[in-house]
Amino acid sequence: MTESTTETARQDPHPIASDPAPVSFPQDRGCPYHPPAAYAPLREAGPLGRVTFFDGRSVWVVTGHALARDLLADPRLSSNRQRPGFPFPTERLAGVRARRVALLGVDDPEHNAQRRLLIPSFSLKRIGALRPRIQETVDRLLDAMERQGPPAELVSAFALPVPSMVICALLGVPYADHEFFEECSRRLLRGPGADDVERARVELDAYLGTLIDRKRQDPGDGLLDELIHRDGPDGPPDREELIAFAVILLVAGHETTANMISLGTYTLLRHPGQLAALRAGDTTTAVAVEELLRFLSIADGLLRVAKEDVEVAGSTIRAGEGVVFSTSLINRDGDAFAAPETLDWDRSARHHLAFGFGVHQCLGQNLARAELEIALRTLVERFPGLRLAAPVEEIPHKPGDTIQGMLELPVAW
Ligand code: HEM
Repeated sequence: MTESTTETARQDPHPIASDPAPVSFPQDRGCPYHPPAAYAPLREAGPLGRVTFFDGRSVWVVTGHALARDLLADPRLSSNRQRPGFPFPTERLAGVRARRVALLGVDDPEHNAQRRLLIPSFSLKRIGALRPRIQETVDRLLDAMERQGPPAELVSAFALPVPSMVICALLGVPYADHEFFEECSRRLLRGPGADDVERARVELDAYLGTLIDRKRQDPGDGLLDELIHRDGPDGPPDREELIAFAVILLVAGHETTANMISLGTYTLLRHPGQLAALRAGDTTTAVAVEELLRFLSIADGLLRVAKEDVEVAGSTIRAGEGVVFSTSLINRDGDAFAAPETLDWDRSARHHLAFGFGVHQCLGQNLARAELEIALRTLVERFPGLRLAAPVEEIPHKPGDTIQGMLELPVAW
């Protein structure tokens, strides 16, 4: 830590008396399905605390479920990354500061206008109609895995291609280019530094810009084509906006679900009792997926900045101060979930905040649920002897960041 960042940390105007040592955020999980052990003091300190970022900056952290729902629905907290004081918990995220992020990075009324354009494509009915196609994709990938294995590396053979193929088909992006955009997306989400993140952004924007120009001449049948050729009072979105939509849908559409499939499978294999109950049909896959979403909370760090002073939980979040929501702690709040550390198919986990809450709640949640249900159900049914093919301590998971998952998952059957 440099002199100046130490100084920033020391100047925290809101030290919390019950939180003597500053907790840094985000941290490596250690066990990939549990929140970092070092977050324990935050839980003890109550629903609102403080954490320190990589640059020494101190921000508010929300760890309580009821408070998180209130604050995520509060229009005084902004998602606009260009607003002064917006909290960037990692150097990588700080690198995308100037970037125009559609939906996730804008406030109402602009946000509402963008969301209205896209929401019909992600309705339960539209996603329900996609289920046979998702099943076909899952079957094809598992056929190939069975032919070649065992062993297999499940992230590259299954967890990543399922959502990647599905989002490509939905958007009208050629899957043949998947290696390019998966690599860009990996660098955007886990690039080593701000420069690399910026380069990945420029490359992905250029690729999608060219694709959009081509589609103007030669329309296909994906969501991007629908948006480009949309008529109506406002006409189609402009090129920049189309690129911004394509980036967020493509990146959010495959990375997150891929992480849930890989980490979900790992978690099932480490919980043989729950896996057996799932196989035996003692629980439905839909219930198991909901509990896995709660238990794993892979999007662990939702970001906001206060637009004005907000009085909350006996403290004041001042205008311009950053707030981070730790979903892994929020979804293990004992007031919202009994025995929250246990993976339990018998609870109702539906009120978890793994997809966020309020106006920014995940646009793709119906799609994510359909993919997870089909992928996990088919995998456990087709491979009754599925097991980890390496010692647990040798299986790499993603390092401390706001998105969690497995880097690799060697399996055998
Ligand atoms: C299991 C997989 C997924 C998880 C855990 C997840 C999680 C989340 C979370 C927590 C948010 C809210 C962020 C915030 O409030 O700051 C969000 C927003 C979003 N997600 Fe997902 N997501 C998943 C899958 C998907 C998929 C498949 C898509 C497909 C298109 C998608 C598209 C989006 C978009 C566009 C937003 C921004 C919504 C807005 O700001 O209005 N997500 N997601």
